[in-house]
Amino acid sequence: MLSSISRLGNVAFAKSAFSWQSDLDTIFRILSNRFDGFNDNGFYAHPDEVALRRELAQVPTLAHLTEALQGLRAHGVVLYGLGLADLPEDRRNAALYALTLMLGYPTSTDQRTGRVAWDVRARPVEQGSERFTTFSERVGSADMHTDSSFYPMPEEQFILYVVNAARCDGGHSLLIDAEDIYRTLQETAEGRAAFELLSTTPVPFRVPAVYAAGDANVEVHVATVFGPTTRPGARFTMRWRYDSIEKGIAARPDLVTPELRAALALMNDVAETKAARFKDQLPTDTLMLVDNHHMLHGRTTYTDERRHLIRIRISDVPNAERIGPSGVVRD
Ligand SMILES: [Fe+2]
Repeated sequence: MLSSISRLGNVAFAKSAFSWQSDLDTIFRILSNRFDGFNDNGFYAHPDEVALRRELAQVPTLAHLTEALQGLRAHGVVLYGLGLADLPEDRRNAALYALTLMLGYPTSTDQRTGRVAWDVRARPVEQGSERFTTFSERVGSADMHTDSSFYPMPEEQFILYVVNAARCDGGHSLLIDAEDIYRTLQETAEGRAAFELLSTTPVPFRVPAVYAAGDANVEVHVATVFGPTTRPGARFTMRWRYDSIEKGIAARPDLVTPELRAALALMNDVAETKAARFKDQLPTDTLMLVDNHHMLHGRTTYTDERRHLIRIRISDVPNAERIGPSGVVRD
């Protein structure tokens, strides 16, 4: 299924060594039977997703690929040559939806449309609009973060699929493993104290969806940066998005002490500059699978506006069992 497997810490790299053959047609047929239209090719969290997943598990390529990806037991997987380049959007997104449903339960990334597949690409800024632009809509860099950090149940995983690689000097994808965050924090007394504090003291994350609603409507979610993990071999889970925390603190300064602010600033320095990181320009037709609880991700600035990725977030539990919103923000 996979070849040329190598590892860099908890990130695994592989080339695909299979061909989809008629299985892409089978996937498309199964989804066409189950969906009333593909929601502008963004799909939606299917109401019968548990049954649909069982049906898709009968497609050999899909089942074997899922097994191979999970068998790597990595916090991040970079798979080159997934084999979806040049497909029309509906077929490509159908394959990505099917794959993510095999890995878990894809969540809606956009509350208004319910879209599961989100296009990560530059969007023109509407004139006179004060709408909050999220990381995925800007051409600029994205600070290191975990997705949905300001919600009760951040999705456990997400995929990025590269439709069009950036053909410029930038647009690198960045990943930092939780172990490298931990290792860096343990190097100094301040870092060890910060880790302890951020493991025990909740901090306010401001919910970006209401940024645009004005200050009258501030909503924060309070949680620790480092939390307990249920995954064997992992030390902790992470929630991190410094800009959301800074805005949370501005809204609720009563929730933080000077020590906590200092610990957060130190963690930001570790995430932005100090910790070892994977940094690469992913080529077209690459799939990246990321453990959103055990990896930070980000992106460097780019100028090629044709750079285009698809992102789908994946929950471990079916959508019907999830607490709180999924998506809203497209970070
Ligand atoms: Fe993100």
